[in-house]
Amino acid sequence: MVEANEVSWKRIAALFHPHRRRVIYVVVVVVTSSVIGIANPLLVQAVFDRALFGADGVRLGLLVGLVVAMVTIALVSGGLGVLQTIETNRLGQTVLRDLRDRLYVHLQSQSLSFFSGARTGDLQSRLSSDVSNAQNAVTTTLSSILSNAITFASAVVAMLILSWQLTIVTLLVVPLFVLATRWVGARRKQYTREAQQHTAAMSVITQETLSVSGITLAKLFGQQQREIDRFQDASAQLAEASQRQQVIGQTFFTMVQTFLGITPVVVYLAAGFAIDGGADISAGTVVAFTTLQSRLFFPVARMLETIVELSSAKALFGRIFAYLDVEPEIVEERSAIELDRRTITGVVAFENVRFAYPEADVAALDGIDFTAEPGQLIALVGPSGAGKSTVLQLVARLYDPREGSVTIDGHDLRDLSFSSLANSVGFVTQESYLFAGSLRANIAYGRSDATIDDIVEAARRAAIHDRILEFVDGYDTVVGERGTRLSGGERQRIAIARVLLADPRVLVLDEATSALDTTSERRIQRALGELVSGRTTLAVAHRLSTIQAADTIHVVDRGQIVESGSHAELLALGGAYRALYDEQFDGGRVETRCSDGVVRSDGTVEYDHAEQRRLVRAAR
Ligand SMILES: Nc1ncnc2c1ncn2[C@@H]1O[C@H](COP(=O)(O)OP(=O)(O)OP(=O)(O)O)[C@@H](O)[C@H]1O
Ligand SMILES: [Mg+2]
Repeated sequence: MVEANEVSWKRIAALFHPHRRRVIYVVVVVVTSSVIGIANPLLVQAVFDRALFGADGVRLGLLVGLVVAMVTIALVSGGLGVLQTIETNRLGQTVLRDLRDRLYVHLQSQSLSFFSGARTGDLQSRLSSDVSNAQNAVTTTLSSILSNAITFASAVVAMLILSWQLTIVTLLVVPLFVLATRWVGARRKQYTREAQQHTAAMSVITQETLSVSGITLAKLFGQQQREIDRFQDASAQLAEASQRQQVIGQTFFTMVQTFLGITPVVVYLAAGFAIDGGADISAGTVVAFTTLQSRLFFPVARMLETIVELSSAKALFGRIFAYLDVEPEIVEERSAIELDRRTITGVVAFENVRFAYPEADVAALDGIDFTAEPGQLIALVGPSGAGKSTVLQLVARLYDPREGSVTIDGHDLRDLSFSSLANSVGFVTQESYLFAGSLRANIAYGRSDATIDDIVEAARRAAIHDRILEFVDGYDTVVGERGTRLSGGERQRIAIARVLLADPRVLVLDEATSALDTTSERRIQRALGELVSGRTTLAVAHRLSTIQAADTIHVVDRGQIVESGSHAELLALGGAYRALYDEQFDGGRVETRCSDGVVRSDGTVEYDHAEQRRLVRAAR
């Protein structure tokens, strides 16, 4: 886990810097729409004191004029409100799109170690949910604080213009309102949390007890009544908590309504005392004043809510920034060398390489030293966890060695540009990954300029062409769509075709340990034969055929090469290789394991016990 950083508002503000023109525009819109409302109560005052109940009776002309002005203001402020929504959202989306893109680019540059472990889910949630929540915070929270603050301020200004005495009285009510709102707000938060906890507790109980094993356990031990009681308890608590939550939510609105109902009374009373004391307050002023009150209390309520949201928005940005602050471990040198793929000969050398995975205590590689000459096939064999796959990952520079160096044609991999490294080294992994796209796109992944003829040629050589044609859509078949299922062996052949098309000088091959049926196995071997020929190949070998074809076999154990030589030499040596060979290949009798037994070199299959029993049962 990457820990969230404390983040400054300055850093969040910097996100808006590239869009400052739009920010200014939004601010102007928000300010205008809030300020324009100020005119309304002043017009109300004029309607009452001059047009309706003035000294010279009703003045219809003035009345119509004032009414037109009021309608216009209502329309304009409505329009501005819509504009404000559009613009703040557009701003929020733009800023957050930038942030999301930056985050993605940054994550792409991270080395493999960053992604290992259980982090992927965390990352995905960060990319989608955190960023969209942050977007919400930016558009809703920030613009709401701004517009509510301005609405509040303009209401106060309008009140002062109307009557300072009544303003003071009304403002005295505000702190009361704030206190009440905060109290209800705190309760609301608490009750919501409680309701969530009870919901979670309920779902734990149902999951536990309504599963096959849970229900079996309860039945076997006669504990069903106890489980029912437990459930009913939790259910009752949830009902109570949910009810409290609902009620408090409703209470909040009722409270605001009540305040709005009471404050006019306070204004009437205050006006009475003020007029009695000789102040000059007209009827229009009193009416105008009461219309202003909703512009006072609602903004205060909203601001109190959003201020709470601000701190969680800040935490959200903290989490996102934390990822942006992780330095990639593997970076391209400024002066990186570009290798010409046509002139590479393909000498791969490991010089005293030591390596440990991040956060691992023991070294995965402990002094690996060997050279693969151009065109050679080097096989790595050894027990599981010995470090074979790690060696291969270093050739593709998915990790850098801690000590020593890995070179291609004498160039340290750290001095090569990413693109020339990717062009020179091809990788067929233990598990072949196909992305959701057409088979054609999957094969052409490393070479977007490949023609369909190139692609078909590669597929033929990888022994997958015929299989592809069996699909209705052929090469345009989309992986994962309409029940397109490729077996493990077929996926591998696609991956082989991908590398054949890219045609790298150096090939890294991690043979799958998972077993295939005989036909698949033959096809894979044919494809591998095509792939290996003419390239320097480093292969983690599980197939006897690959091992026997190797120029040199290195036996890897606990991060070290313990024996090296040809198949015959190593067998004669009678050491680690001999032991491994006897165990894995049953002294040469066993060619490969398949899903239901072993396939011998003569093509016969010897079934596992379980499979034998199944066959016997089926025959009966
Ligand atoms: N991403 C990783 N993070 C931490 N440790 C790792 C990681 N990958 C492998 N290891 C550890 O490094 C050691 C070597 O692993 P490696 O995958 O190279 O073995 P291997 O020889 O390829 O085994 P297998 O034959 O099972 O594929 C093992 O102890 C393994 O647990
Ligand atoms: Mg491995």
